[in-house]
Amino acid sequence: MSANAFIPLFSRTVSRRSLYLFSGVAAAAAAATTVAATASAADNRKYYSYNNNNNNGNRRSGWGFFGGAAAAAAPVVHIAAVNKDRSFDDYQRIYNTIAEKIREEDEYDGYIGYGPILVRLGWHSSGTYDKNDNTGGSYGGTMRFKLEQSDGANNGLGNARAFMEPILKEFPWISHGDLYTLGAVCAVQELQGPKVKWRPGRVDMPEDTTPKNGRLPDAANGADYVRNFYARLNMNDREAVALTGAHCLGRTHLKNSGFDGPWGAASNSFTNEFFVNLLNEQWKLQKNKAGNMQYDSPKGYMMLETDYALVQDPAYLKIVKEFANNEGAFFKEFASCFQKLLENGIDYPKDAPTYVFKTLDEQDL
Ligand code: HEM
Repeated sequence: MSANAFIPLFSRTVSRRSLYLFSGVAAAAAAATTVAATASAADNRKYYSYNNNNNNGNRRSGWGFFGGAAAAAAPVVHIAAVNKDRSFDDYQRIYNTIAEKIREEDEYDGYIGYGPILVRLGWHSSGTYDKNDNTGGSYGGTMRFKLEQSDGANNGLGNARAFMEPILKEFPWISHGDLYTLGAVCAVQELQGPKVKWRPGRVDMPEDTTPKNGRLPDAANGADYVRNFYARLNMNDREAVALTGAHCLGRTHLKNSGFDGPWGAASNSFTNEFFVNLLNEQWKLQKNKAGNMQYDSPKGYMMLETDYALVQDPAYLKIVKEFANNEGAFFKEFASCFQKLLENGIDYPKDAPTYVFKTLDEQDL
């Protein structure tokens, strides 16, 4: 049964204007059903926990479960909390503020600017998702906690979070999950990438819902690993290849990941260059200064082993060729699977709005 099936019951049982979320917690020890409301620092960034403690694993009486010994089989449910007081214009205003800041602070990282690292922030906030129990993902905004930040795979993302700090201060009503994903959509679009549909409704969740470290991918691996990794995110081969195409943006940094160099020439514009370079450059696997293996080309470009796996595996290779020859096909696929990545694990009520933001250029700003 879809989690959406619970929504009518949910809204009938509790009607509160300020209600952002009821999420059920199946706790092993407790015996009664209680509703606990906890307010977070920001006035309306509240979460409510619906404690379903009947211990029978029956999802009908709750709306979400966090893992606990007795709830091992019950998946977490994350229902988007749509803030009826906010409109498209409110979110477009946040988009514009991020986009203008990307434009203004263009000297960051050797004039690459903040776009690529904002895409990485949105992706790493979402890339902890596990389809097997519906944990992780962007919903709870848990990237704001030290535990998640300290995952080695997130090294360097402090710069992106610091970029977002003044924006959170200016718009304290947005959740961290919404902000981080909106930032990634904004960066893709402002760097001339495809329009990516975006939906609000993520809710800041407490620290103990933070996924354990180790869920983000390790670049020192081949095609089987890549396929398994993306399967956990519910992504097929075509989606896996399209998502990796985001490596047209930005670069690797020795101090962050132990890898060195950009994937191509146009590090701050979203193109299909990643696929073109994969096919056309002369790649050589060698040890970098940090002692890690990476593919290098005479032009000074690099590929991770997980990137290069896309030309070693015949099924992936076919898709790489298609995207290298047809940027439109890449853009179309990327727009749809990037939205899916950012929304993994979230149930949206039927009346939840979907937004397509205008770029600054389209607004003549
Ligand atoms: C197997 C999957 C992946 C692996 C192993 C991987 C690995 C990496 C590594 C090692 C870096 C360098 C970080 C640094 O040194 O600063 C990086 C950067 C980056 N990744 Fe990925 N990545 C993967 C998938 C993705 C996906 C799915 C996206 C987005 C859709 C993405 C977007 C980016 C971007 C934009 C950067 C550049 C960040 C910057 O310039 O600061 N990556 N990735």
